[in-house]
Amino acid sequence: MPQPLIAIDGPAGAGKSSTARQVAWRLGLPYLDTGALYRAAAYAALKQRVDLKDSAAIAKVVDKAVITFAQAERGVKVWVDGIDVTSDIRQPDVNLAVSPVCEVSEVRRKMVAMQRNWAARGFGVIEGRDIGTTVCPNAGLKVFMTARPEIRALRRGKELGIDQSPESLAKLTAEIAERDRRDTERDDSPLKPAAEAIILDTSDMLFADQVNNIVRVASERFGTRLYSGSTRP
Ligand code: DC
Repeated sequence: MPQPLIAIDGPAGAGKSSTARQVAWRLGLPYLDTGALYRAAAYAALKQRVDLKDSAAIAKVVDKAVITFAQAERGVKVWVDGIDVTSDIRQPDVNLAVSPVCEVSEVRRKMVAMQRNWAARGFGVIEGRDIGTTVCPNAGLKVFMTARPEIRALRRGKELGIDQSPESLAKLTAEIAERDRRDTERDDSPLKPAAEAIILDTSDMLFADQVNNIVRVASERFGTRLYSGSTRP
């Protein structure tokens, strides 16, 4: 029986984090949101006022930054140089800085090493963009979650607590489309489904069905005994 290491990839706003967290909880597995680590790297670059067009300067600052993380009740907690940046990394300035920072190969090398280290125990739910293809090519289950851009914008808007006006949603949709473009077009480990990934288009799916779908496949594949409780954030 393969080890229960589950890789969940997909574009921004596909519902990966909330789904992965719930799947992990249902299966009694640890969970890692790798986007939080790239966000921490972007935070470190912003803090040092690095020119975001200067890849060498970004690489240098991120190399020096001590990025640590731990699983918390509602996701991952992250520290940069000993300072808790868990909420800072969700702010708009980090949303904008994270794309140029995560494209720098030295940054990716450091992040991938941290993630592989975490995954080395052989079990867990790990979520990102390049997990099935690069970080954990041996994961026993790979899922690629996606959804139409306007649906993803709506979900992101709710998550960020911003108003649902057509203008705000149009802005978010454009931001998401730009991030998709950068994620899929970058040279170093671009966003794409692993060959053996299960593709889950969640545009018209209920959250519970998304979760149940993955949990069912995982329990068949890994012979995992399930917790009977159904919902928990
Ligand atoms: O999932 P998120 O929006 O928090 O991710 C933040 C950024 O990090 C996103 O622009 C893509 C990048 N990322 C990445 O390049 N590789 C990963 N494994 C996870 C995230």
